[in-house]
Amino acid sequence: MLTLRRLLAAHEEAIIETGTAWVREVAAVDLAGRPASETRALVAESVRTYAALLLAGDPRPRDAFIERVTTLRSNLRFRISTLLRGFFAFHRALEPILARDSVPHQLAFDILRRVDAACFEAAFLTADTYARKLHEVVDTAQRELLRREKLAALGGLVAGVAHEINTPLGVAITAVSLMQDCVDELSHAFAAGGLRQRDLRDGLARAGEAGGMALGNLQRAAGLVTGFKQLAVDQSSESRRRVALGPHLCELVASLAPLYRRGPHRVDVDVRAAVLVDTYPGALAQIVTNLLQNALVHAFPEGHVGTVTLSIARADDGRVELGCADDGVGIPPRLLRRIYEPFFTTARGSGGSGLGLHIVHNLVTELLCGTIDTESEPGRGARFTIRFPADPGA
Ligand SMILES: Nc1ncnc2c1ncn2[C@@H]1O[C@H](COP(=O)(O)OP(=O)(O)OP(=O)(O)O)[C@@H](O)[C@H]1O
Ligand SMILES: [Mg+2]
Repeated sequence: MLTLRRLLAAHEEAIIETGTAWVREVAAVDLAGRPASETRALVAESVRTYAALLLAGDPRPRDAFIERVTTLRSNLRFRISTLLRGFFAFHRALEPILARDSVPHQLAFDILRRVDAACFEAAFLTADTYARKLHEVVDTAQRELLRREKLAALGGLVAGVAHEINTPLGVAITAVSLMQDCVDELSHAFAAGGLRQRDLRDGLARAGEAGGMALGNLQRAAGLVTGFKQLAVDQSSESRRRVALGPHLCELVASLAPLYRRGPHRVDVDVRAAVLVDTYPGALAQIVTNLLQNALVHAFPEGHVGTVTLSIARADDGRVELGCADDGVGIPPRLLRRIYEPFFTTARGSGGSGLGLHIVHNLVTELLCGTIDTESEPGRGARFTIRFPADPGA
């Protein structure tokens, strides 16, 4: 390498000049509008970096150089292709010098081979570093997008909740003011000493009716608020523990007997695999309760006797599979797409809020780190399949 050291010392300026001219010629687009001195400085820096790498075998200046040009800020000044051209310029400029100085052929060949190897190694390293940094940028951008999406969804949700709660509250206010009118009328008549028995009976009946209406609507509003509170999946307030899923599900279904014991429908539990999971039992209970309740409320029309089957198995990919299937009326395809939307319900008239499956979806994806799939055909029942890792923290 003595020859190379001598050549570099003698011709460094010429190598830098030739390299700069070559880079500007091949990198016309990259360097448009940039002063030639910038290109020269870049080529000079790469020549020195290579010299250090080739002569001293010290990779540190090269790594520092790559780090510098691949950081976000430097990328704005020099595109990656410009940097690589800077590396190759060194090689190009050295070639005629090696020939001109009548260096022995074999030695010139050896030097060029080493320079080549160093150029390619640096090119790959640079590309790797650059790709890694790009990944970081993309990841950050993705996280930010997700955060914004969630915020937008939350905004929509809050507006929806306000709208939903407004209706029962409005009805309750009307009913209560009606009640107040009735009571006022009665007390006026009483004070004037002209309260007839029939007026009292009618007034009390009207007030009672309005009271019932107010109570029902206030209860509905309170139910909505409770449902909305459950939407906030707060991991810290949920205790996590290890449970044997089979026995746990059997206990859970037994505790939900009031939902189905008096009715004609059957609820089966089918445990096909013994699975121990590190999970949130509160969330699991909420998920199972909502799915079971939905099947009992929506799947079976009057006079139809149905079966709901809750099952546990291991999915092919090792995750836990929790299923809830019924043999009821099923969900038409045009509704299937919407069932997880907040406030989507086909049972608004009978007190459905449309928050049940939305809460289930949130719990499954946010807390259990899992997925939920629905299959259904009209007339052939519905099946909800939840898959989640047995130990999400592992
Ligand atoms: N097993 C099922 N069979 C048929 N339809 C279903 C079934 N489960 C859910 N659905 C449909 O999906 C809709 C949304 O369900 P979701 O649980 O979100 O709301 P909901 O049950 O109507 O109200 P809430 O659960 O808040 O009381 C239901 O209104 C119903 O139309
Ligand atoms: Mg429901």
